[in-house]
Amino acid sequence: MKLELPYLDHLAFKNQSQYKISNYNIFETLYNSLLENRNFQSQNTNIIEIENQCITILFQIFDELKEQAIEEREILFLEELFFHADRLLKEDINVYKARILSYNFNKNDSNFHDKKYTIGQISKQCLDKINFEIKDLIELFRKNALSGKTTREDLSMNSGQVVRKVVNELNKDFNENGILNLLSHYMGVKQTVIGVSVELSVPNSNWWNVDYSVYQRQPKTLYFHYDESIAYPKSIVYLSDVDENNGATSCVPSFNKNVNMSALQFIIGRAIACVGKTKGTKLNSFYKHKYHQTFGCPTFKNDFSKLPNELRFSSHFGWDVIPDSELEIFLLNDEVKVIGEAGTFIVFDGGTLPHRGGLLKSNERVALQVIFGNYNSIYRRLINKLKKYI
Ligand SMILES: [Fe+2]
Repeated sequence: MKLELPYLDHLAFKNQSQYKISNYNIFETLYNSLLENRNFQSQNTNIIEIENQCITILFQIFDELKEQAIEEREILFLEELFFHADRLLKEDINVYKARILSYNFNKNDSNFHDKKYTIGQISKQCLDKINFEIKDLIELFRKNALSGKTTREDLSMNSGQVVRKVVNELNKDFNENGILNLLSHYMGVKQTVIGVSVELSVPNSNWWNVDYSVYQRQPKTLYFHYDESIAYPKSIVYLSDVDENNGATSCVPSFNKNVNMSALQFIIGRAIACVGKTKGTKLNSFYKHKYHQTFGCPTFKNDFSKLPNELRFSSHFGWDVIPDSELEIFLLNDEVKVIGEAGTFIVFDGGTLPHRGGLLKSNERVALQVIFGNYNSIYRRLINKLKKYI
């Protein structure tokens, strides 16, 4: 028996007037055939055809939903949700396509494909160099934290010369220790480090607290989430020693196999986090989104709750797990925590593997959040930049 997602029973998401949709099981079959990497060449199945069918069905679903919406805000909500769902669906399919095409020629022998993560250590030399580069930045973050400034902007940096140097050091080390090769096999296209965020985490950040008053306590699964994209594998590299009390990153590798989640929910769940967030849009003016929380605004939570059960999911589901539910117990039992000294890293597929980290009880954590991506797209961007000057 698979576990149910929390939205079915959660009291804060009850809605008497949920939309209804026809049976779209065919979407599951089509999407999963791409996800499962079937041998398309021998079956003579056309990937493009499947892609077009998926896109058409998603469009039909939202057409059905919009017919049932009443208020202007609800229609705008559905239009924006469709925009992001369509974008993510196309991005997902591109990832599966690259994998299918490369798998037909090159079988992947790594178990990363099943586990979706691996743990290791960067070299001492790389660690020392990075620590030297970032020391002034970390001092600045510490000053911010001491004066009560604890938003992500106050305590992290993802651009500039220091960050570029860190990217270069990591690329050298991840090349030598085989991580880039492993990810290139996994993604079906050559991977490289495309971005880094240098981060300080401290215990007085409290953005993760949830205040659904329908239950007596918060779930113990706060901040479990999937990243929005499956196109960019991630790594967290510790630059300070990390244990259970100062923000260990963790993941639940057995979650996907044990939970009843459809392909549509997987797409909608990641799209919902983007809806109504763009400042200056009419939809944004209807909501009072809370920093870093998907359902901090009650009106937005209501609009989400009107979606049919077949679609309801939020990628940041950790906040919405029902206290004392089977799901909460399962997540806590199967949570794999990455504990280790400075230099320890986890590389993972954050779009497919639920994870959390950086919630501190004491002390501090210095870490790098690393984003991998397609080597060729970086190369092409560089060429385009250079062309402007030629
Ligand atoms: Fe994440």
